[in-house]
Amino acid sequence: MERLVRFGVSVEEELVREFDEMIKSKGYSSRSEAIRDLMREYLVENRWETGGDHLMLGSLTLLYDHESHDITDKLTHLQHQYQDVVIAATHVHVDEHNCLEVVLLRGTADRVRQVADRLSSLNSVKLAKLNVASVGGGV
Ligand code: NI
Repeated sequence: MERLVRFGVSVEEELVREFDEMIKSKGYSSRSEAIRDLMREYLVENRWETGGDHLMLGSLTLLYDHESHDITDKLTHLQHQYQDVVIAATHVHVDEHNCLEVVLLRGTADRVRQVADRLSSLNSVKLAKLNVASVGGGV
């Protein structure tokens, strides 16, 4: 485990009270653990927004009607085109018409964003949600 550093923070009483209530309801065992998670989230968000060469992990959830046009061909074609970033994909037949696909991505922020945008903007995709994460540099 990495060496831990203790630091003091001055915060308004009301803010701390609300924060403590919220983290308790979420099941955090300590304020420190909640703050560590928030710091990681903040760093990852910043890496994502800064873009460039930061190595990111992503999971892109897509919902689409498989009968619609040539959507399955297009999805497959794009995933092959970005095979350096697409590391896995899971497909679930939700009902008679709808398919749910989760595409796992790993690559630079710019490359992950590019493939996620292209997959999400395909005509027959009804819903697209990208979640990103990263590791390294304290995260
Ligand atoms: Ni399906």
